Amino acid sequence: MSVRTNDLVASSVSAASAELASAGNPFVAVRVRETSGSKVIYLASRGNKSPAYVLKLRKPRRLIPATARKREQLSTAAEYDAIGTVARYFAGIPQFARSVPRPVRLLKDHDAFVTEFIEGRSLKDILPLATGLLSRASSRSALRSVCYKCGVWLGLQHQMPIPDSLPSRAFDLERLRQKSDAAVSLLPESTRGTTAIRDLRAAADDYARPITDDVTCHGDFQPGNIFVRDGEPFVIDFGTMGIGPAEDDLAFFLVLMATQKFRIVLGNAAGDPRFTVDLCDAFFDGYGSSRAAQLPALKPLVAVYMLERLAAMFDTTSRLPRIARPVVRARLNRWVERDLTAFLRRLEHLWTGRS
Ligand SMILES: Nc1ncnc2c1ncn2[C@@H]1O[C@H](COP(=O)(O)OP(=O)(O)O)[C@@H](O)[C@H]1O
Ligand SMILES: [Mg+2]
Repeated sequence: MSVRTNDLVASSVSAASAELASAGNPFVAVRVRETSGSKVIYLASRGNKSPAYVLKLRKPRRLIPATARKREQLSTAAEYDAIGTVARYFAGIPQFARSVPRPVRLLKDHDAFVTEFIEGRSLKDILPLATGLLSRASSRSALRSVCYKCGVWLGLQHQMPIPDSLPSRAFDLERLRQKSDAAVSLLPESTRGTTAIRDLRAAADDYARPITDDVTCHGDFQPGNIFVRDGEPFVIDFGTMGIGPAEDDLAFFLVLMATQKFRIVLGNAAGDPRFTVDLCDAFFDGYGSSRAAQLPALKPLVAVYMLERLAAMFDTTSRLPRIARPVVRARLNRWVERDLTAFLRRLEHLWTGRS
């Protein structure tokens, strides 16, 4: 059964269908997913429930939140090229030969493209399930193994030859400092005074060396962009790929693993720092812990991204019903005070290299 779509989506779907249809059997939209940066439409051949392709349509830049990474995304054609380059590179690595969806068609006139559909669930959706009351040790160890493989995957992407066409993602120390100051100014007074925030500010400020742009970065390597099927990771969303410091992807992954909002607010066990540290350890093991420990900007970047993430999380609370706001803010605040401090302390070995 097809879903209802607006005109813009409908015209891209019919353009995609015209390109993909074989033997006169058209493709129809069976599901639409929307993120802050795009609409993704799942396409199945008529009469078939399971999608074969996804169509990714960009949202206009003005509709993307000013704080979102997507603000700095590649053009649609460049993202399509980037997927092709990464998919070809991983096709040569047996362990990850199918870990990136293959590009299928660029629809230039529609500012859209089609890729293979990846069956599975995102790591973001799996995390809270694998750690609730019902979870068993086996699901935790399966999750650890997925995180390890994600680390191996990212380590390989960072070794990939740098494509000529990619932009450099400038890492200016002054700009990082401004980002962390701006983030702190958005936090509530009571959160600003906590030990965790003071430590993060100190870590962000205590860095004077230039940050080197020297690897092919994914640019948005986080649990929402990693799909898992049969214990294997599949990586999507190359819209912010660029040449940058390896620390960027590592720090971003770590921060997003630790701060899935509703887990924190609902007190889900996955918000527990011990659990997150365990998964992050597995991820860094896969990446190569000693390699990561030699990256000088890892700790300062974790600090900056954590501050930005907390600011964004508190900002979201202002869109909740008035009655819920104080409760949710108090929970977030408590998490910062108690769990975040513990989390940061348990991570020290990642940048010092000492176990
Ligand atoms: N190849 C795919 N297979 C299955 N689902 C996908 C695929 N590509 C994207 N999606 C779904 O659409 C969402 C948004 O796609 P993504 O490329 O991450 O866009 P954005 O740049 O907006 O984050 C993803 O989080 C995922 O749920
Ligand atoms: Mg995404």
